[in-house]
Amino acid sequence: MKAYVVVLLLFCVGFFECAWCQNNDVAVMNTLKKAIKEPNDLQWNDPDVCKWEHVQCNTMKRVTAIQIGGQSLNGSLPKELLQLSELTRFECMNNAFTGPFPNMPKSLEVLLIHNNNFNSMSGDFFNGMTNLQDVSIGYNPFSNWEIPDSLKDCDDLRSFSAISAGLVGRIPDFLGKDGPFPGLVSLSLSFNSLEGGLPATFSGSSIETLWVNGQNSDGKLNGTLDVLKGMMYLKQIWVHGNSFTGPIPDLSNHDQLFDVSLRDNQLTGVVPPSLTALPALKVVNLTNNLLQGSPPLFKDGVRVDNDLEKGTNSFCTKKAGEPCSPLVDALLSVVEPLGYPLRLAESWKGNDPCAQSWIGIVCSSGNVSIVSFQSLNLSGKISPSFSRLTSLTKLLLANNDLTGTIPSELTSMPLLKELDVSNNKLFGKVPSFRGDVVLKTGGNPDIGKDASQALPGLSPGGKSGSEGKKHNTGAIVGTVVGSFSLLGIAALVFAMYRRKHKRASKVQSPSAIVVHPGHSGDGNALKISVSGTGVGVSSDGGGGGGTGVFSTTSSVQHLEAGNMVISIQVLREVTNNFSEGNILGRGGFGTVYKGELHDGTKIAVKRMESGMMGEKGLTEFESEIAVLTRVRHRHLVALEGHCLDGNERLLVYEYMPQGPLSKHLFEWKEEGLLPLEWKRRLSIALDVARGVEYLHGLAQQIFIHRDIKPSNILLGDDMRAKVSDFGLVRLAPEGKASFETRLAGTFGYLAPEYAVTGRVTTKVDVYSYGVILMEMITGRKAIDNSQPEENVHLVTWFRRMLLNKDSFTKLIDPIMDVDEETLPSFRTVAELAGHCCAREPYQRPDMSHVVNVLAPLVEIWKPSEADDDDIYAIDLDMTLPQALSKWQAIEGKNTFDVSCTSSMLTSGDTTQSSILTRPSGFADSFTSNDGR
Ligand SMILES: *[C@@H]1O[C@H](CO)[C@@H](O)[C@H](O)[C@H]1NC(C)=O
Ligand SMILES: *[C@@H]1O[C@H](CO)[C@@H](O)[C@H](O)[C@H]1NC(C)=O
Ligand SMILES: *[C@@H]1O[C@H](CO)[C@@H](O)[C@H](O)[C@H]1NC(C)=O
Ligand SMILES: *[C@@H]1O[C@H](CO)[C@@H](O)[C@H](O)[C@H]1NC(C)=O
Ligand SMILES: *[C@@H]1O[C@H](CO)[C@@H](O)[C@H](O)[C@H]1NC(C)=O
Repeated sequence: MKAYVVVLLLFCVGFFECAWCQNNDVAVMNTLKKAIKEPNDLQWNDPDVCKWEHVQCNTMKRVTAIQIGGQSLNGSLPKELLQLSELTRFECMNNAFTGPFPNMPKSLEVLLIHNNNFNSMSGDFFNGMTNLQDVSIGYNPFSNWEIPDSLKDCDDLRSFSAISAGLVGRIPDFLGKDGPFPGLVSLSLSFNSLEGGLPATFSGSSIETLWVNGQNSDGKLNGTLDVLKGMMYLKQIWVHGNSFTGPIPDLSNHDQLFDVSLRDNQLTGVVPPSLTALPALKVVNLTNNLLQGSPPLFKDGVRVDNDLEKGTNSFCTKKAGEPCSPLVDALLSVVEPLGYPLRLAESWKGNDPCAQSWIGIVCSSGNVSIVSFQSLNLSGKISPSFSRLTSLTKLLLANNDLTGTIPSELTSMPLLKELDVSNNKLFGKVPSFRGDVVLKTGGNPDIGKDASQALPGLSPGGKSGSEGKKHNTGAIVGTVVGSFSLLGIAALVFAMYRRKHKRASKVQSPSAIVVHPGHSGDGNALKISVSGTGVGVSSDGGGGGGTGVFSTTSSVQHLEAGNMVISIQVLREVTNNFSEGNILGRGGFGTVYKGELHDGTKIAVKRMESGMMGEKGLTEFESEIAVLTRVRHRHLVALEGHCLDGNERLLVYEYMPQGPLSKHLFEWKEEGLLPLEWKRRLSIALDVARGVEYLHGLAQQIFIHRDIKPSNILLGDDMRAKVSDFGLVRLAPEGKASFETRLAGTFGYLAPEYAVTGRVTTKVDVYSYGVILMEMITGRKAIDNSQPEENVHLVTWFRRMLLNKDSFTKLIDPIMDVDEETLPSFRTVAELAGHCCAREPYQRPDMSHVVNVLAPLVEIWKPSEADDDDIYAIDLDMTLPQALSKWQAIEGKNTFDVSCTSSMLTSGDTTQSSILTRPSGFADSFTSNDGR
């Protein structure tokens, strides 16, 4: 029989493969044992390395974890470790290992080697390490090295800790937003010799913990802390012991921030109220800066390190919360738009500018008569607050870098005799002063011209130069004129956007996309070039249309990675004008259409029901979208773009070709599908659990889905599952109306406390998830009206059957085979389902518990944990040799007995198609032979 030959063939492949790699693992482990000095304590004596302490193997006897931290070991590590191709975890922290740290296999997920005596790591260490999530390499005497570019390959990176690790150079831009690490939450670079500023790309990043304190390069880290303003997910900021300057930025969006250590820098300016108002604040350190104004008063319970007695800042008093004199307040408001210059902050101490002779301030009889800020290299604008200094006779601001206009408020100063603003970059009309005021405005090339003349491109309203600059950064330069092929551009942008791993973060940074207006005479030509990658496309306009993809420059600016704006015209075209034929499904929030871009990329477009968005304003909608696009996980359907047009709200998702789980569970017959076998169901269950676990706690904020059900679980061609529609609840208005419309359709999955009280916790999702587990076990729907009355409600029926040991197997979907191998897992999952559907929320487990229960069950049938996604992703169209070599590539092996394959092939006289119609059988027979 053909199938028999297949099994034999796979048996053969599996046997040779694994025998070789197991033996090799054993050899490598023995090399390691020899290299470690005094391994007696480790008791590595058993011939079976999988029995060694601190070593873990998978079911195929391949080494997956080595955890020898804190064992007082020394010696240097052998480079053969690279051959442990299933190794996911290597820990050797807190020992005394020496020598270079060797390269590690690409399967590695966790690397903890801090606190040793390693002297180097290769600059290409991180090349291709796409599975690495947690890296801790600090407290090693590495010779000077820069954060290597190869780190970019680690796109799963969550945590990177290299404290006291010999790092020099600048903090690279790629660690921030739009870099390769959408999931990076912890970055610890303390006690190195880094220099320069915090990269601007940090704004908008997902970083929660930022430690860059205590650099010991000459200049230390410098520049301002402005970028922290946009790092809304921060929980901990340690920037102390550097040379940061300028004021503390506005932190009013930082709800989770609890630890702010700013001490030992050169920060100036008034402490912003947003710092004292931080809701989660527990610890704040401000000592040894040049902070000004009234010393901040923090809430009870906040540990404050702000040595007021010693006057280690430039506050006006020594008592927290005590206001400054009006004169000091006025002077501080005058220097605010100048960024609170360091020179002034160093000198401006205390509460009496005249008694304490502040730099730049001249007093007469206790009143300020002259402000002299000449040649101080000041930049920024002239504050209208100067007019609060009513005793001022001379205001001297010459020889700086001031921009903006001369504020008209200055004309009201009663005693002013002289205003000298010569040699700056001021522009605009000079307001009319009294006749006896001496005005010096020479050396400002644009003075007298109005704003639009002075800075072409800005509206006559007059934006300052610095604002104008801010406006342009990150935006696409240039204007799109004429008409051109909408689809061509959409497809190009989309293709770039989806490049490689389909991660938004992989997109070419928008600042590098340049759209040139056509130069040729017809006015239709359009060129797009992407600097850096060499992508260049020219498209000649096909006429028609008129409205471009980017109809205005402002929509162009929204083209940020992960927050892709797509025009309604494009979406209409790709969905055949939202035709019935393109409908993939209808849900609580609207209708989903299939679309296909020019380049063949398939997308799913959800057109929200009008009214569903209620009164939500545009900005609110956009900020929600911005959050949703950030939530990226391999088991969550990615939101790839959106469109707002009048009342239309559309969301663009990745397309999941195998459709909803409900189709495969309940409608497989009608749809002509094969029923899902148990192992497949288990793997789907684990995928969903991982997705929901991420939503509940691993994302930057807690998401509660509230509508988990099989029609919201979508399958890819590899039959791996992703959860969809998460976060839409947040988009919809709260309140009774939405409650009813949304819940009507999903009865059966509702946790009792939610149905009764409307109170929502993560346990609401756990309950719904439990119902799905029951559905997967039984093949019955949550509410099954074809059943006798007492059995209609699945949860009730399931619980009853579960109580009775004898009836247990009757629970199981008759379409699935139950055998000795699978029965125990049926039981485990049935119990888990019951647990998830416990009546009281607190009795239900967390999703992480669910993951922990399911993962080992799924593991049993899988050749490997690493790259598990690809194992099932065998393309049915591939020939056998192709499939095998892909599998081989996945496994990362290079010795492979091809002759075995081909001889079996010929002798078996097997057609390739019959071999590969059941990819799961492939994995099954492969692993079951290992269970010997
Ligand atoms: C290595 O460890 C052994 C046993 O603990 C010790 O005797 C030896 O001095 C250590 N060598 C170094 C260089 O620390
Ligand atoms: C920051 O430090 C770098 C290198 O130490 C130096 O080149 C640069 O001028 C400094 N920038 C500022 C604003 O002080
Ligand atoms: C900040 O100040 C608190 C209270 O003085 C202190 O316990 C803590 O160690 C300081 N933290 C840092 C990072 O310096
Ligand atoms: C100084 O200012 C105070 C209050 O504004 C005023 O009463 C006083 O006359 C001023 N002194 C001089 C010499 O202008
Ligand atoms: C003036 O300021 C600019 C930046 O604001 C700085 O690069 C330059 O070094 C400064 N010059 C002096 C003389 O302080």
